[in-house]
Amino acid sequence: MTPQQQALVRTTFEQVKPRSTEIADLLYKKLFELEPKTVALFRGDMKEQKEKLMRMLQIAIEGIDDHAQLQPMLFNLGRIHHSYGVQGHQFMSFQESLMFALKTVLGKDFTPEVEQAWRAIYLYFASTMHNFPHHEENVQVPHN
Ligand code: HEM
Repeated sequence: MTPQQQALVRTTFEQVKPRSTEIADLLYKKLFELEPKTVALFRGDMKEQKEKLMRMLQIAIEGIDDHAQLQPMLFNLGRIHHSYGVQGHQFMSFQESLMFALKTVLGKDFTPEVEQAWRAIYLYFASTMHNFPHHEENVQVPHN
């Protein structure tokens, strides 16, 4: 991800922020069309979930320069998604759902450069989430 791409993501995120409810609505609507099985994973209040996602994106986009601080947060998020049973291909559908939401809201401002920049940042988020250290799971619990 280049500094130019980081800047493009920041600018366009600021641009869509007043419409973040709409972004989240479009994103999950698309995700549930593409991955109907994921609907059942969400047990909490979807309005709250949408707010959590948009807040997370904001924190991650603002902190993109600070890998040392962002990485443990993304690892943690990855670990809980692993425990929900979210699968790799579903993360790809999530990416397409995010692109769909951004494209719908940004319209002609969703240029190929903007799209590439968002794909690059999403790839960083998703791959960091995917690569959380698994070793804690291998701890042997002694039987008595
Ligand atoms: C297809 C992909 C994904 C699925 C199926 C999924 C599923 C879920 C589920 C089931 C929850 C828990 C909701 C509940 O409490 O009922 C959750 C929470 C959350 N997800 Fe995802 N997720 C996906 C991708 C992502 C991605 C890519 C991000 C961030 C970039 C993300 C950010 C979050 C956040 C911030 C929470 C709230 C965690 C908390 O409560 O502390 N999710 N997700």
